[in-house]
Amino acid sequence: MSALISPPAAAGPVGRLLRSRLAAALTTPHGVDRYLERFNPMWAAHEVRARVVSIHRETEGGADGTAPVATLTLQPTSTWRGHRAGQHVLVGVELPGSAKRHTRAFSISSAASAPGERFTLTIRAHDEGQVSSYLVREARPGTLLHLSQAQGEFTLVESPATPTISRLLFVTGGSGITPAMSMVRTLLRDGYDGHAGRKVTFLHFARSPEDQIFGAELAEIAAADNGVDVHLRYGDQLFSEFELRRLVPDFRDTDTWLCGPAGLVELVRDAYTAADGETSPRLRMEFFKPAVARAAATGAEVAGEVSFTRSGATTAATGVSLLEQAEELGLKPEFGCRMGICFSCTRTKTAGTVRNVLTGEESSLPDEEIRICVTAAAGDCHIDL
Ligand SMILES: Cc1cc2nc3c(=O)[nH]c(=O)nc-3n(C[C@H](O)[C@H](O)[C@H](O)COP(=O)(O)OP(=O)(O)OC[C@H]3O[C@@H](n4cnc5c(N)ncnc54)[C@H](O)[C@@H]3O)c2cc1C
Ligand code: FES
Repeated sequence: MSALISPPAAAGPVGRLLRSRLAAALTTPHGVDRYLERFNPMWAAHEVRARVVSIHRETEGGADGTAPVATLTLQPTSTWRGHRAGQHVLVGVELPGSAKRHTRAFSISSAASAPGERFTLTIRAHDEGQVSSYLVREARPGTLLHLSQAQGEFTLVESPATPTISRLLFVTGGSGITPAMSMVRTLLRDGYDGHAGRKVTFLHFARSPEDQIFGAELAEIAAADNGVDVHLRYGDQLFSEFELRRLVPDFRDTDTWLCGPAGLVELVRDAYTAADGETSPRLRMEFFKPAVARAAATGAEVAGEVSFTRSGATTAATGVSLLEQAEELGLKPEFGCRMGICFSCTRTKTAGTVRNVLTGEESSLPDEEIRICVTAAAGDCHIDL
């Protein structure tokens, strides 16, 4: 790395000085990172930024109506603390022609990283998606991104070297493959012993072979003698509990990581749910989009009216998120991850009852800060929007 782009070492004395109260006081109100950024965007004392180093096309998309996918390799600033396999990162981009920064969450697809190390994101360009389209179609080597530290608990429970894990199962669909790929890459890199009954089963659903992300690497993993079984299913080969039982007879007692479209997640979750309604604690799930609120999914009626008080718009409560209800009315509230992670959609509910669509929890507290992307009306409610 040339001297011009060497960041001040985050852990060294210069890094400590830049993060000191003295430096904060001297650079008030803008903060030390605003000054460092002027010298070099890859210099930072607190914030995390990254440069796109390279872009690899995973799929071209097109013929069957699917969107293209690309893997971006990122060089983060030295403030990056590294990530555990399965974690995601919030990515902020300044889109051409837009004054504000747009934030979205992306899982890290490369093996666990150490502080300051490069890592990859693998992104599907949604047709109407602002950030994903920009990153896949327009980002170039050198493009600068703003990042959070890695976050999330959808991770491997133990180190690959820990012999207490007996068997691992990954069930993924579409771009939901990314966190699982990070875990499998980490296991293989760090010497997970796939023999001695400690098998890894990787079951993935894609629309077609052309739409398969990481196809060549998965074929190599499948062919190697490593204890990892790869099963790829395409098109109308849908998930069935019968097939899962054939692949992993004791799947409900197997540590399982599940990530994919809502339909797949529902089916797999049902398979892990016993007759008494208890879902196996061995199943861990990651969502890229919130599941539709139960009332909306089942068509059950939600009695009540939603009032967006600032704009004067009202609508009948339907059980979908308040963000979607606002958008259906033509309002354009700020949002980022649409999954309750980034807080950019936070609004005040001044009155009424709402339900968190992720946990099902209801609340009727007045003047409550809510994230409207993961909150639905559960009766009359007033939102300051
Ligand atoms: C934890 C997590 C990890 C993720 N990891 C990955 C990953 O590894 N790879 C990946 O490809 N994706 C991942 N995602 C999904 C990603 O964060 C984005 O949701 C996705 O890329 C779409 O973002 P976008 O900016 O392109 O689309 P957006 O611009 O956010 O639009 C998304 C959709 O929202 C709706 N919408 C937006 N604005 C409006 C409006 N004004 N009115 C009505 N409807 C509207 C539309 O239906 C649109 O198609 C992850 C998400 C989460 C939460
Ligand atoms: S958009 Fe990120 S928390 Fe709602």
